[in-house]
Amino acid sequence: MKNKINPNKGKRFPNRFSMIRFFMKGSVRYFVLSVVFVCLLVLFELVNPKIIGYTVDFVTRNFDSIPALIMGMVDRLGGVDYCLANLWIFSLIVIAIALLGAICRYTFRMFNSLMAEHLVEHMRDSLYEQVIHLPFTWHDNNRTGDIIQRATSDVDMIKNFISDQMTNLFRMVILITLAIAFMANIHGKLVWVSVTLIPVVVGASLIFHAKIGSAFEKVDTEEGKLSAIAQENISGLRVVRAFGRERYERDRFETKNEHYTGLWIKMMRILGTFWTMNDIIGGAQMTAVLSVGAYFAVKGDMSAGDYVAFLAYNATIIWPVRQLGRTISELSKAGVSIDRLMYIMNSEREKDAPGAGAFPEHCDIDFKNVTFAYTDKNVLNNLSLHIGEGQTVGILGGTGTGKSTLLALLDGLYDVSENGGSITIGGVDIKNIRKSELRKNVGLVLQEPYLFSRSLEDNIKIAVDADHEAVEKAVETASLKETISRFNEGYETYVGEKGVTLSGGQKQRTAIARTLIRKTPIMIFDDSLSAVDAQTDARIRAGLMSIGRETTVILISHRITTIMNADRIFVIEDGHICEEGSHDELMKLGGRYRHIFNLQSAMGEEAQDGQE
Ligand SMILES: Nc1ncnc2c1ncn2[C@@H]1O[C@H](COP(=O)(O)OP(=O)(O)OP(=O)(O)O)[C@@H](O)[C@H]1O
Ligand SMILES: [Mg+2]
Repeated sequence: MKNKINPNKGKRFPNRFSMIRFFMKGSVRYFVLSVVFVCLLVLFELVNPKIIGYTVDFVTRNFDSIPALIMGMVDRLGGVDYCLANLWIFSLIVIAIALLGAICRYTFRMFNSLMAEHLVEHMRDSLYEQVIHLPFTWHDNNRTGDIIQRATSDVDMIKNFISDQMTNLFRMVILITLAIAFMANIHGKLVWVSVTLIPVVVGASLIFHAKIGSAFEKVDTEEGKLSAIAQENISGLRVVRAFGRERYERDRFETKNEHYTGLWIKMMRILGTFWTMNDIIGGAQMTAVLSVGAYFAVKGDMSAGDYVAFLAYNATIIWPVRQLGRTISELSKAGVSIDRLMYIMNSEREKDAPGAGAFPEHCDIDFKNVTFAYTDKNVLNNLSLHIGEGQTVGILGGTGTGKSTLLALLDGLYDVSENGGSITIGGVDIKNIRKSELRKNVGLVLQEPYLFSRSLEDNIKIAVDADHEAVEKAVETASLKETISRFNEGYETYVGEKGVTLSGGQKQRTAIARTLIRKTPIMIFDDSLSAVDAQTDARIRAGLMSIGRETTVILISHRITTIMNADRIFVIEDGHICEEGSHDELMKLGGRYRHIFNLQSAMGEEAQDGQE
């Protein structure tokens, strides 16, 4: 399929305008066309008051106020008396103009909708593309619900601003300019009474601009937080129920929601004051024009037709001038939404070091004095280890000692800092390997496997284009074959969101099959057998042994039996390796490993006794 995304490749936007320009790529032509048709619509709207004015003068036989061109047309139609006897001609002209206006309105709406939908599509595609390229550290600090709120509410806010307010801006500017020109043409002095409205409304809007902006910023941020709470609670509904926390979570949501509603009401109050003020200014201006205009008309400075036309033009500008105020207030809100999207779009993407290259030929792995912290506390402390190519190694350690962190670093999910030591594969620092290449060659079964709401087979071949035979082979090695055969739908069994319809062990084995099918030269299993029974564990390990000596396998487990047959075992404590060697060597050493072995053996015997 053609790649529709116009990728920005992680480029930074120096200001709001440059980002909007980027988002509008592909929809500019629709924007221009909608502006053209909205301007034509204005012209038709403006012609009508003139025709009504001329009709009044014509009926009252005040022919001097009517231009010669129109009188010429009257003559061609059959003369003054004929036209006076057939006033329907004027109605017909008014209807024809209204019809042309309606056609313009329809075309404008059509191009406007096309522009809006293209714009939204481009914004969402770009945001999604950006979000999936942002590093894990960014995702650790930003909540999913908030990101989704930005991609929905804020995107809609910007769309509405551009499609409604921006096109209207052109319409209003043309409407106001032409109406003033027509009014000035009718009466040079009265027009001054009319235009005083503009600076007053614009000035008031500018005063309110900052107030509305900061009120909306609070509302929008709070909406993001509310979405994050809702998203987290709905995703974790099982935990909420299991711990009987429905009431607590409901109250927490209600409090947040109440706060959000309060902020919204506060903003509406500011907007309400602003609108009422605009109405009062508009009303005062209308009264002034009406009275001063009546004075000029009575004095004989202008005809009755001119007075009517002037009032009609004045009424035409009151709405757009008030709209101008609205546009300024919407601009404050759109600015907030643009900034919230710019926060995502300008976040630094995960990127390769300059000159990073292909994956090396050999797969021996070296951690040299690696020190790493997520925040301020070191998780890995000067950790060093060597894994030979094709070896199967085990990593053992208490919870929170940094085992998963070690693997996340090896897979390039987080980066080691400049002076935090080095990790090399085949002698090449992983910083000098393209991240895509690294991940293509390092297969990782995460501690908490994540499955997608698709079929089992689709989940297994999510990262590769494999045939069914390959899927079956991986499934067999992962000891999942029998389980699948018991499902009515077999490989087509639909896996609920995050794998909710599968048991913990089934999920783990699906994740193992998903990694096995990729046949990567390095395979990592992060506590991936914790949810399977000892027998299945042994069967999977035997399967792993058969995948070939050229594969480097790293097994992490709390269970000694899972790793005891490995070529080499590393015991990790306080973020560094405290013991290493084969099972026999470590047993002879009589240290930490031996202690854990004795503990687990005793527990195993106890369990067996219990069973007997
Ligand atoms: N994304 C993260 N942000 C901040 N701290 C983290 C993050 N991930 C892990 N940690 C912290 O780093 C430490 C090591 O975590 P890690 O997941 O590597 O432990 P582990 O050895 O795999 O534990 P377990 O056996 O329980 O899986 C923990 O104290 C944890 O709180
Ligand atoms: Mg872990």
